[in-house]
Amino acid sequence: SKYVLVKKDSCIACGSCGSAAPEIFDFDDDGLAEVIFEGDNNKGVTLISSDLLEELSDAVDSCPTSCIKTAAAPFA
Ligand code: F3S
Repeated sequence: SKYVLVKKDSCIACGSCGSAAPEIFDFDDDGLAEVIFEGDNNKGVTLISSDLLEELSDAVDSCPTSCIKTAAAPFA
């Protein structure tokens, strides 16, 4: 089980995460990545579906600034 959020202060808007996992990440109004999965709104409180965990892992690995944080428990 995985929860995820983007530390936006380190995001350089490269877009790799959204390419790897478009159901989980999108750009916010400032052009930075955020978690959009099931309306999470980048809070890191929505359990990512097991069928998306491989995409999530790819996204984490693809981020050049390592600003995608995952955890086994909700962030808040
Ligand atoms: Fe930002 Fe990393 Fe995605 S830099 S756009 S969170 S791949």
